[in-house]
Amino acid sequence: MAYPPIVIALIEALGADVVSLRETIAGRRWADWSGEPADIPLALLRPRSTAQLSEAMSICTLYCQPVVVQGGLTGLAGGACTRASDVAISLERMTRICEVDPVSATLTAEAGATLESVQNAAAEAGLTFPFDLGARGSCTIGGNLATNAGGNRVIKYGMARDQVLGLEAVLANGDVIDSTHKMVKNNTGYDLRNLMIGSEGTLGIITRVVLRLRPPASAVATAWCGVGTYESVTGLLSLALRRLPTGVSAFEVMWPSFVDYMTTHVPDIRNPLDERHNFHVLMESVGTTEPEHQEVFQCFLEEALEEGLIENAALAQSKGDAAEFWRIRDSTAEFPVLMPDLIAFDVSFSIADIGRAAQECDAALRNTWPTSTVLTYGHLGDGNLHLIVQVPGADAATVDAVENLVYGIVRDYRGSVSAEHGIGSKKRDVLGHTRSVAELAAMRAIKAALDPHNILNPDKVLPA
Ligand code: FAD
Ligand code: LAC
Ligand code: ZN
Repeated sequence: MAYPPIVIALIEALGADVVSLRETIAGRRWADWSGEPADIPLALLRPRSTAQLSEAMSICTLYCQPVVVQGGLTGLAGGACTRASDVAISLERMTRICEVDPVSATLTAEAGATLESVQNAAAEAGLTFPFDLGARGSCTIGGNLATNAGGNRVIKYGMARDQVLGLEAVLANGDVIDSTHKMVKNNTGYDLRNLMIGSEGTLGIITRVVLRLRPPASAVATAWCGVGTYESVTGLLSLALRRLPTGVSAFEVMWPSFVDYMTTHVPDIRNPLDERHNFHVLMESVGTTEPEHQEVFQCFLEEALEEGLIENAALAQSKGDAAEFWRIRDSTAEFPVLMPDLIAFDVSFSIADIGRAAQECDAALRNTWPTSTVLTYGHLGDGNLHLIVQVPGADAATVDAVENLVYGIVRDYRGSVSAEHGIGSKKRDVLGHTRSVAELAAMRAIKAALDPHNILNPDKVLPA
């Protein structure tokens, strides 16, 4: 069989150990969790080092060969999906935890390390990497940074971006940017690190990261609260921020549609409260000492009850109880099985607007498609709403209509079409709902400067 010249050049330079040909890789998965289409690529590169990846990229530049970087393929925007004409790059052989520095409280890892392995290495060193999301066992730290992922603890610790002190990345032409320092403060010109973070593999390939660690979470208080109105939800949040000296580490809100659906469809999940409430809030606060932290948290809950902000609450008495509360929230990982044809949204509004915006989306969807299922939940402390919509028998035109309806409401509220999952291929066409013409032009100029041949994940993020 005649191989394309680019594949021959890559094999000559890097060897068959690094470059796998199309016919040997047919059994792998090429799509992420987004439902976006994917094809078997021309070849798969699995470099063992930054130097090998850099050499590969200089060859791809020479041949103007498009590449798509793949991490754990847990993305929800189609960013890692390959076309038949792409070369795929996997960092599955670059998974080392290089160093934990307890004095600087940093962890250095290769970008192919899973989030869970980073969390475990931090814990073994007596520290914690608190950034967390449901795909922790499969997603890579490089993928987390490339999507600037959010997750459940943004309210206290920030997005993926906020966990990073330094990184190393390979550019389209093979140049290596080595910014793997451990400095908190570094005001020396443009912040290339932050340009790479959130760029979804379109500006560079992240190969190594320096992450900031935190003291261990020695006291964790968790409650499941039933709340009657949206005003009480925001009242509860502001009371928590005022009363809990170490703050709130999670403030997840689930509408009854979500709780009813999950407790009905997922085995061994039950609502910790017997009654149904208009809002269910899963709250967590990380403190320093037990039992003092539990006591402060309990006092806060009692005050919230007295003020009428909550109708009822279950306070976790053990790690097992807390895990049971979190299982309801994390049951979203079951969606691909429960609702393979779902239409998912990851949108943002101001916290003040989110109750009304959610209600508007829900009402408009149910009015237009009376047989639809609409599940609403989100990281409300961050203004991030997830909507899961299923319309029985929906064809492509119906999916478009559902998306137009929700994204139309997002635009009206000046919200964001992606709070945390990114744009990938899935939301390219609606990027302009959230970004102005001038912003898009600046993004295009950056892309053209760093990737003049448009070989890094072309057709992703920026609209055609
Ligand atoms: P992939 O899916 O492989 O890739 C994602 C994008 O990053 C692609 O564009 C790819 O090209 C690029 N990329 C990957 N690695 C690199 C690299 N080293 N350098 C440059 N570009 C790269 N997201 C949230 O924000 N919050 C959540 O709460 C959340 N929960 C989730 C729960 C579940 C069950 C699942 C399946 C996903 C969830 N996600 C969540 C989606 C989230 O974006 C991903 O889990 C994760 O951040 C992607 O990592 P990955 O390694 O799987 O990347
Ligand atoms: C969640 C993912 C889907 O929060 O972002 O469940
Ligand atoms: Zn989320």
